[in-house]
Amino acid sequence: MEISAEQKLELVKIAKKVRNWAYVPYSHYKVGAALLTDSGRIYEGVNVENAAYPVTNCAERTAIFTAVSNGEKKFQAIAVVSEKGGTPCGSCRQVMAEFGLDLLVIVADENENIVMEKKLSDLLPGAFTPKDLE
Ligand code: THU
Repeated sequence: MEISAEQKLELVKIAKKVRNWAYVPYSHYKVGAALLTDSGRIYEGVNVENAAYPVTNCAERTAIFTAVSNGEKKFQAIAVVSEKGGTPCGSCRQVMAEFGLDLLVIVADENENIVMEKKLSDLLPGAFTPKDLE
């Protein structure tokens, strides 16, 4: 399923809005994510840090876990917004891969400029997926 330029911008705007709720007392690096499901719903997420640093949850994973917690497992696109448009970390790419490599990943900066737009299959070549366990 292809999504329109308007839908992409809408996702970026939502990710930018929720980014303000990021809990980042340690890194001060705010990230917001907006995940569009095949059903047309949008789930949001922010990074949530912890005094025990490695326990931190990235914005992308928060959005995906929230969607799954609401019965959704098919995703079309995810927008990720940070100050300068940092790309999703390896752990988040792996979590995304669990649900399909066709996911469109849109990365934007805090001014809503899209700095990267790629299929997950290009961001995580040779991904280990549920198919490997069959
Ligand atoms: N972070 C994300 O939320 N998403 C990413 O893809 C990269 C990193 C967060 C984790 C941590 O709270 C902060 O950014 C700095 O690493």
